[in-house]
Amino acid sequence: MLELSLHILDILENSVAAGATRVELRIEEDLAADRLTIEVIDNGKGMDEETLSHVLDPFFTTRQTRHVGLGLPLFAAAAEWCNGGLHIESQVGQGTRVIATFQHSHIDRAPLGDIEGTLLAFLLTERPVDLHYVHRVDGRAFEFDTAELRAELGDVPLTHPAVRRWLGEFIGEGEGELRGVYST
Ligand SMILES: Nc1ncnc2c1ncn2[C@@H]1O[C@H](COP(=O)(O)OP(=O)(O)O)[C@@H](O)[C@H]1O
Ligand SMILES: [Mg+2]
Repeated sequence: MLELSLHILDILENSVAAGATRVELRIEEDLAADRLTIEVIDNGKGMDEETLSHVLDPFFTTRQTRHVGLGLPLFAAAAEWCNGGLHIESQVGQGTRVIATFQHSHIDRAPLGDIEGTLLAFLLTERPVDLHYVHRVDGRAFEFDTAELRAELGDVPLTHPAVRRWLGEFIGEGEGELRGVYST
């Protein structure tokens, strides 16, 4: 059982591999409806019908290197096991949208895990990709957009040590406040 943040990192990396310059990650926890929804929307190169029809087959990959193409099938299996499922929409030249749903309270539903570490790992590289992140737990939300952060920072990169430290604290605090929702 993988922490969901590891699945999320894999889906985000798929977007980068597809040449996306903007990625939106939405994590919606609707405790009343007992639903967890994880959605990744990118502006990458998209997939044609043929590719789309095979992406949930284990070991399917269009990559020439490393991985064996288990990212999407494993995520789909985890979601289906928890009374949810995985849905993909894609348009060549437009982008891709991956939506996974889970029964929030399902006994086998993996925890989100280290979402702070996952976001930092994704962001703290020199890749030219912006992330719009929204995490909602019932009525409360933590949200940021690296395009806005970059505009504020001017020439200072996200990887600058001081920015890096600030970003870690910012995400840690935002996520920490959301975690507080559970305990109230
Ligand atoms: N966001 C995306 N945009 C375009 N193609 C994608 C995207 N996500 C997945 N794919 C396609 O689906 C294939 C399988 O993805 P995945 O299961 O994560 O395995 P892998 O990343 O190891 O190839 C990728 O090789 C790629 O062709
Ligand atoms: Mg992958």
